[in-house]
Amino acid sequence: MALSMAIFYGSSTGNTEKAAQKIKKELGDLVSHIADVANADPKDLENYDLLFLGVPTWNVGEMQEDWESFIPRMQGLDLSGKKVAFFGLGDAVGYPENFLDAMGELWGAVQMLGNPELIGTWPKEGYAFDQSKGMYDSDHLLGLGLDEDNESNLTDKRIKAWLPKVMQDAGLQTA
Ligand SMILES: Cc1cc2nc3c(=O)[nH]c(=O)nc-3n(C[C@H](O)[C@H](O)[C@H](O)COP(=O)(O)O)c2cc1C
Repeated sequence: MALSMAIFYGSSTGNTEKAAQKIKKELGDLVSHIADVANADPKDLENYDLLFLGVPTWNVGEMQEDWESFIPRMQGLDLSGKKVAFFGLGDAVGYPENFLDAMGELWGAVQMLGNPELIGTWPKEGYAFDQSKGMYDSDHLLGLGLDEDNESNLTDKRIKAWLPKVMQDAGLQTA
């Protein structure tokens, strides 16, 4: 079964944008649309079956500013039946009590829009932080965690390990 896929991200200093482009590069033509939420129309989210949502946490546990403006504009969307996979950018050394918090906040907002299916949860093992609102359960993050501030050397490896899990959760063959 073919699923249409898109990546939507917000990024203040380019790290999430870079991660979004890496995911796009890995998945190639499987991803038909990639957009910065600073310039996107929320209605576009309804056009795809699988949404990759990329969000960095800013200002100690806060939502990135473009998502902050975008989220209220998402009101009224119907994402029921869709699959969503999150990738969150954060700094586990600088903000160990708030690592990837915005990923949790964004999932909370997206869940209200018809309860889409969350896919691509990811073990917290291998990340050094104390607390996060971006947890799925006590052992798993809601999505992929990336830390360009301290572990940029792991980003490619983490993306490559995560994407097959996302595809598997989506019922697609792993790469
Ligand atoms: C002032 C400031 C506050 C931040 N607060 C958090 C935070 O609470 N939690 C976290 O995980 N990362 C935090 N970060 C780290 C950013 O999320 C990280 O640098 C991220 O890669 C930025 O992504 P972007 O370039 O796509 O905006 C903060 C960074 C700065 C400069």
